[in-house]
Amino acid sequence: MDRKKITIVGAGNIGATLALLLARRETADITLIDINEGVAKGKALDIMEASPILGFNAHVVGTGNYEDTANSDVVVITAGFPRKPGMSRDDLLFKNYEVVKSVSEKIREYSPEAFVIVVTNPLDAMTYTALKITGFPKERVMGMAGVLDSARFAYFISEKTGVSVENINAFVIGGHGDDMVPLRKFTTVAGLPVSEFLSKEELEEVIDRTRFAGGEIVQLLKTGSAFYAPAASILEMVLSILWNKRKVLSASVYLDGEIGEYYGASGLCVGVPIVLGKDGVEEIIKLDLTEQEWKEWKRSVESVRSLIEKLPL
Ligand code: NAI
Ligand code: 2OP
Repeated sequence: MDRKKITIVGAGNIGATLALLLARRETADITLIDINEGVAKGKALDIMEASPILGFNAHVVGTGNYEDTANSDVVVITAGFPRKPGMSRDDLLFKNYEVVKSVSEKIREYSPEAFVIVVTNPLDAMTYTALKITGFPKERVMGMAGVLDSARFAYFISEKTGVSVENINAFVIGGHGDDMVPLRKFTTVAGLPVSEFLSKEELEEVIDRTRFAGGEIVQLLKTGSAFYAPAASILEMVLSILWNKRKVLSASVYLDGEIGEYYGASGLCVGVPIVLGKDGVEEIIKLDLTEQEWKEWKRSVESVRSLIEKLPL
């Protein structure tokens, strides 16, 4: 059987970490591409030199040439500029729009059948950009943020309750911004409502920390943003597609009238629960939100919409 091929655009912190995680799972062969060709080639070679020790058989190659990415099954876009201290995700909008636009044109040309996972910030606006520029069906273009935000929410609950992360089910929807929507009602510890373990005040503290978790890491690192948990989150999505796991997870996808208006949101990409499998976004799951969540959702959707409206698309 031919191996699957995954291209990672951007061999920076997230791209390179993802390449190593994917190689260790022997999921596919991996092409790392970057405008800085030496960085892509150097990191790919470094990962391959770890293969005799870690014992994996996947091939990782670095390149600056899109011909080497041809016919990829999945393309992950991490190319762009990360947030620096004091910079909002939105400050990145126009800088990264140009990057994602040019990358999407190449994906359309070289890998017309690929699934596209966008990571570059501001996430929801960049996912919309990739969708519009590639012209791919909406089932094949999605943004990674909800898996990361949900993992952060779960980790903070585990830390506060002292219960294993494996017992926590946490879900965050909405845009990947400070007004994301962590869902209280659907958050459980070993299947029990989180309210059995945390007071209302404690839960609100955890929710606040989740909303600003990206910024917390930026403040600590000073020179860039988070990359280990983001790379792990992308891995989860890639495996769900390539291994047809049909996991329910949160991802930024295009909502329109065809799927049905999702709580008043349509004509944009924003984080919702989906079923992710071999056909990509196979289902969008509609939730029964509380009044408070409904208000938060609408605010978050409006933030995403205001960014998307600024784009020349
Ligand atoms: P990084 O700066 O380490 O890597 C970015 C790489 O993209 C660099 O190697 C750069 O040379 C390359 N690049 C720039 N323009 C390019 C182009 N036109 N073609 C190919 N490569 C190009 O950044 P890092 O930390 O890997 O983050 C990448 C992106 O992911 C940023 O936009 C960041 O804000 C975003 N991010 C998104 C998260 C999410 O949940 N969606 C979480 C964390 C970061
Ligand atoms: C994060 O959430 C900065 O979006 C990036 O870590």
